[in-house]
Amino acid sequence: MNLNILVLPGDGIGVEVTGEAVRVLREVARAAGHSVRFTEGLIGGVAIKAEGTPFPAKTEKLALAADAVLLGAVGLPEFENAPPELRPERGLLRIRAAMGVFANLRPVRTYKPLLDSSPLKNSVVEGTDMIIVRELTGGIYYGTPRGISGEGAEERAVNTMTYSRAEIERVSRMAFTLARTRRKKVTSVDKSNVLENSQLWRKVVIEVSKDFPDVALDHMLVDNCAMQLVLNPKRFDIVLTENMFGDILSDEGAVLTGSIGMLPSASIGEKRPSGAWTGLYEPVHGSAPDIAGQNKANPLGAIGSVAAMLEYTFGLTNEAAAVNQAIESVLAQGRLTADLKPVGTPATTEQVGAAVRAAIQL
Ligand code: IPM
Ligand code: MG
Repeated sequence: MNLNILVLPGDGIGVEVTGEAVRVLREVARAAGHSVRFTEGLIGGVAIKAEGTPFPAKTEKLALAADAVLLGAVGLPEFENAPPELRPERGLLRIRAAMGVFANLRPVRTYKPLLDSSPLKNSVVEGTDMIIVRELTGGIYYGTPRGISGEGAEERAVNTMTYSRAEIERVSRMAFTLARTRRKKVTSVDKSNVLENSQLWRKVVIEVSKDFPDVALDHMLVDNCAMQLVLNPKRFDIVLTENMFGDILSDEGAVLTGSIGMLPSASIGEKRPSGAWTGLYEPVHGSAPDIAGQNKANPLGAIGSVAAMLEYTFGLTNEAAAVNQAIESVLAQGRLTADLKPVGTPATTEQVGAAVRAAIQL
């Protein structure tokens, strides 16, 4: 198979973690006899500095031409006070929209060797295995009108939370389809006791569920969900929710398993005419400028994102499983970066990457 991949390292630790993820992908391709071609582009703060925009037209062209995109992270403290359209984060929102990747899959599962890294009791987290399916190209992140206007006491800011039936339907179908490959349970999360937006969300999710009678559906208000995630995370299989709720809940979910550095994500859109899924793959963590360039960052979220890419975009399930097994074996060896609170000296980003490559069996 020919894999044509765009790498967008972005800012901060994005550079180091995608570096290791690319090396792992090269190793998998070598071992399994695939040919892989990488191109590289700019996004986020580095793109603002070089091109004056967080999402240059050249990057968009490369992204649409690639089979899949591997992204590191965006965000730099120097842009903290910049207007929204000139912030690194806007690059991420624009590439998601340009690629049409409306469903963001964030798997949260515990690894035995990491149970002690979780802030929760072992007995609470052990066995947790869920996927948060976050709607990614709609809702309050993109709704208009938006902006700040007026002056003095009348200065006012507005954002708009908006969803169409079609937007809710397609991401719901994705969630129910995914549930069929797992424990067949979808929990839809909303705030329908307050928001009309959530009332439509709930109505459409119920309608879609009729096409999946073998999948159990329940509904949970987002505030209660935030609580249940720490009280009883094992109860969740697929968590289906809108863009901003999913952003918030997925950070909470991430830390249950020990560190946000562990979490991969896959953002999927429509099937291409070729039959492949458009995909943008990125770790859930941010650019962590405080540790950037120090060889300390955990590359496993980025490496796990490569496994997701192999699975969802290329349908290479054996190769994906080999990467995930290599990650587990490295954790079992206790080769942990500082975020996972290892006993003794933490491993470096490069050491963890090398250990994963060495553990790949194909
Ligand atoms: C995420 C991030 C982004 C988001 C930011 C960096 C724009 O927090 O992917 O979860 O809010 O979607
Ligand atoms: Mg987030």
